[in-house]
Formats: sequence, structure tokens, C-alpha cells
Amino acid sequence: MPQQALFLRGPHDPISIARAEGAWLYTTEGRKILDAGAGAIVVNIGQGRKEIAELAARTIASLDYVVPVWTTPEREHLGERLTDWTPEGVNRFFFTSGGSEAVEGALKFAILYNKVRGKESKKKIIGRRFSYHGNTIAALSAGGSGRRADYEHVLLDWPKIGPSYCYRCPWQKTYPGCDIDCANALEEEIKRQGADSIAAFIAEPMMGSSGGTVPPVKEYWPRLREICDRYDVLLIADEVMTGFGRTGRRFAVDHWNVIPDILVGGKGLTGGYLPMGVTAVKNELVEEVERAKAEFMFYTYSSHPVACAVADEVLAIMEREHLVERAAEVGARLGAHIKEELSGHPMVGDIRGVGMFWGIELVHDKATKMPFAPEKKVTNRVLGAAVRRGLFFYPATGMAGKAGGDAMMIAPPFIIGDSEIEYIVRTAREALEEIRPNL
Ligand SMILES: Cc1ncc(COP(=O)(O)O)c(C=O)c1O
Repeated sequence: MPQQALFLRGPHDPISIARAEGAWLYTTEGRKILDAGAGAIVVNIGQGRKEIAELAARTIASLDYVVPVWTTPEREHLGERLTDWTPEGVNRFFFTSGGSEAVEGALKFAILYNKVRGKESKKKIIGRRFSYHGNTIAALSAGGSGRRADYEHVLLDWPKIGPSYCYRCPWQKTYPGCDIDCANALEEEIKRQGADSIAAFIAEPMMGSSGGTVPPVKEYWPRLREICDRYDVLLIADEVMTGFGRTGRRFAVDHWNVIPDILVGGKGLTGGYLPMGVTAVKNELVEEVERAKAEFMFYTYSSHPVACAVADEVLAIMEREHLVERAAEVGARLGAHIKEELSGHPMVGDIRGVGMFWGIELVHDKATKMPFAPEKKVTNRVLGAAVRRGLFFYPATGMAGKAGGDAMMIAPPFIIGDSEIEYIVRTAREALEEIRPNL
């Protein structure tokens, strides 16, 4: 297809990818690029798995579409397997075509659940000022990132917690939205708004593209759970980026043994083989909605049989090959090597992460951690230099916007080995060195 026919252009000259294998992409001109961003933090099990291609072909040959309210063996198998994956009791699933739709499903479910139990006034969603929950109007409204900019005038007026003016945490200990004081801010906000107006609180267990990979302190999520319980507010964990092994546990909330009321997944669920997302809800909440005979409208492509079959096989591969454990183990080596080689670099302000989910924050002043001016577009320039050398990383460009902030997200497929770790870190360093003299 000629480029002009496409709707979306990135900041760089478009790169045409002809094929991929494992963690490597091959351009139409035959160049190799190591995909250390797993695409958009998607490709968990690596590309080019023949068994998945064959399964998809077989499924299409026997069945391509069934209305979402009926069932198929593929749907049932995936539901059964997912019950083993998700936190205890969070075992009713609504399948979608991606993360934004699944977040939208979570928000709508929270509002509907409150309505059916006679609490119609509980309809606002509290989010965090630094967050990304997707691209639909409600998902953008629940989130807080530079991506809202052109739509502020139509977004829903939902409350936010966390700093509004500063790229770093106002308590100066850590990053916005991740310190225990910021969890306490949820309680203050619920009291300010009135608990009888709040349906749910939504957050990413570890901040993704709006902060460049930021794990919270370990008390943060248990504290959120306590606050939500006290004020009868549903807790939604948006695990679209962190789910399905990315952080070295099946879900990031497993690090703290927190059970959310609703968990949202996408990306790694199919590892990129087909588009799919999931809204996973506690059984008792779904039962309440079912008892009231309320309708929860499906999307045409909800529970697509081929996507269900593929997701089931992707998860089976993760189980057979112990890829979640591998993400923890190899990810620890990846993080250690990034720290060893790059923490002294003059442009690097911070390195943080866990599992196969690492962020390298780029700063103008290493001592004060002052960010680069946003118009310098530092992340994108470093990415351009990296891609020219054969490395892709995921740019964290959904950050605060006018306050600036740059970070490289290093989140490769779980199947990489030591030679790839070495390649990623060496090439990232070369890219930083290329850009530094011109800043
Ligand atoms: C945490 C989080 N939630 C939701 C989404 C939206 O998912 P999708 O782009 O599949 O609609 C994303 C996408 O990056 C995400 O990172």
C-alpha cells in the first residue's frame, strides 16, 4: 500500500517491515532491527511461531464468526485457562478487540454495577494525572497524559489524583502516583467528591507510557485496596501493558497479592498474533448485574473464535516454556546490565523496572533531574539514532506534556538471551552518544 493511503504517520520516516522472527524485525530492504519494545509492549512470546499460524488457519477453516452471546469451544477453553491466570475470584471475562475497548468495558461495568444496586449517583471514575488507559473518549477521560491535549474540550470531567504541575512527585521521593502519600491522596479525593459519587478508581499497577515504566512502592497497591474497600469504590487494575508476565509475575498486582475488582488486559494476551483485550471482573459483581437482568452490550468482535483460540495457545506456550519465570530471571539480568552500563551516563537520570519492563529516564541535568525541554524531542531523536543502528525501544512520549519528560522503555520479548541483552545496552548507549553533542 502506498504510504499516502495510510492515515497515521509517526515522527520518523516510516519503516517498512517485511517479516519478523523471535525478537527480530526484518525491513523490506533486508535490514535487521532488534525489537526491544516488543512492538508496543505486546510481543511477549516472540514472533513467527508456526504452531500459532497453523492453529489460526485451522480455526478459520472450521469457524470464522459466531455472535458473542453464544459460545464456542475456543471461548470456553480460553475462559477456563484464564481463570488459572487471573487473581482469585476475578474469573468472569468480557473479550474485546484491544485494550481501550476493554478499559471502556471496565468503566461501563463499574457504572452499571452501581446502578443495578440502586447507587446511580456513584458514576464518576477517579484516575491519576499521570496515566494512560486508552484512546476512546471515556478511556482518555479516565487517564492523564499529553495524549488528551486535542480532546480536553470534550472529555468527561472525572477527578484525578497526583501532581498537576510538576513532572516529578511533589514529595520529591519518587515518581508521581507511586508513593504511599499519593495512595493516601485517593482517600482525600474520595472525601472531597463524596463517596456516593464515585464508582471506581483506575490505575496502572506500574506506570507505563505516561511515566516510562515506574513501579510503585510496595505499600501503594495494598493501601489503594484498603481505601477502595472503605469507601465502596471499585478498584480497577489496568494491566494492558503489565499483564501476562511482563513484570515477571502473571499480573503486576500479584507482586503485592492485591485482588482488584476488575482487571483489564490486552497486548500480551495474544502476544500480538491477533488483536484482543479482556475485561476480567469478580464473579460476585457480575452475578449482581445478572440478577438484575441488566444488559451489557457486546462489541461485534467480542470473543472472536480465532482470537480466542490464538490467545489460548499463546498462554499455553507461556506455561509450557515457563516464560513468566523467564521474564523474571532474564529480566533481572537485563535490568542489571542496563544499570551497570548506563547509570553513569550524563543523560540518564534514573533506571527502574522489574521483569521485562525497564525504563531509562533521560534528563537535562543529572544532579537535579531536570527534564529536557519538550520541544527538543529527545526521546524521539534517540529512538531515530537507535533504529538506524538496528534497535527499537518503546518511547514513553505520553508523559506530562508541557512539563516535559523523556524515557526509553526497554521491554523486549521474553525469549531474548544474553547476546541480545548485550546488543540492546550497547546500541542504546551508542544512540545516546550520537544525540548528546547536539542537545
Ligand atoms: C495501560 C494501558 N491501558 C490501555 C491501553 C490501550 O490499549 P489499546 O492501544 O490496545 O487500545 C494501553 C495502550 O498502550 C495501555 O498501555
